[in-house]
Amino acid sequence: MKYKLPVLLLFALVLSRVLLVACAKDKVPVPVNVAINPCPDTISFANDVLPIMNDAACTYCHGPGCGIGEYYDYTTISNSAQQILNSIGPNGTMPQGGTKLADSTVQKIACWISQGKKNN
Ligand code: HEC
Repeated sequence: MKYKLPVLLLFALVLSRVLLVACAKDKVPVPVNVAINPCPDTISFANDVLPIMNDAACTYCHGPGCGIGEYYDYTTISNSAQQILNSIGPNGTMPQGGTKLADSTVQKIACWISQGKKNN
């Protein structure tokens, strides 16, 4: 009986730690290289992915015959999708010389991949 209160306190402490960890975990952003499940919407290649690649000048530097990776249309972009995602993710260096893409933009590419790289 003597130990009841300390044991209860200890239990409360452990429980609050667990809750704190759970809350902190909720705030961690979804890693972009991991498939997001569920993705908010169906990502369109024509309306989302290609415009992102055009706006960030990816397709300009990575156009046909450029001698580096070519990512400018559905076939070339879908074949290198994971590499493209890595290149714009937290450890990526693309777009070279440009502003890093927003996390929400990067996540659109991640969603497009996790949704099966639809040609839609
Ligand atoms: C100003 C030109 C330029 C722009 C803009 C550019 N790239 Fe690159 N990219 C390069 C060059 C040059 C290389 C090869 C040398 C290197 O890796 O730095 C490269 C390499 C890559 C690679 C190969 C792997 C890697 O990370 O090195 C990928 C994938 C890539 N770019 C994707 C992209 C994407 C996606 C965008 C748009 C968000 C983009 N690039 C924009 C010039 C560019």
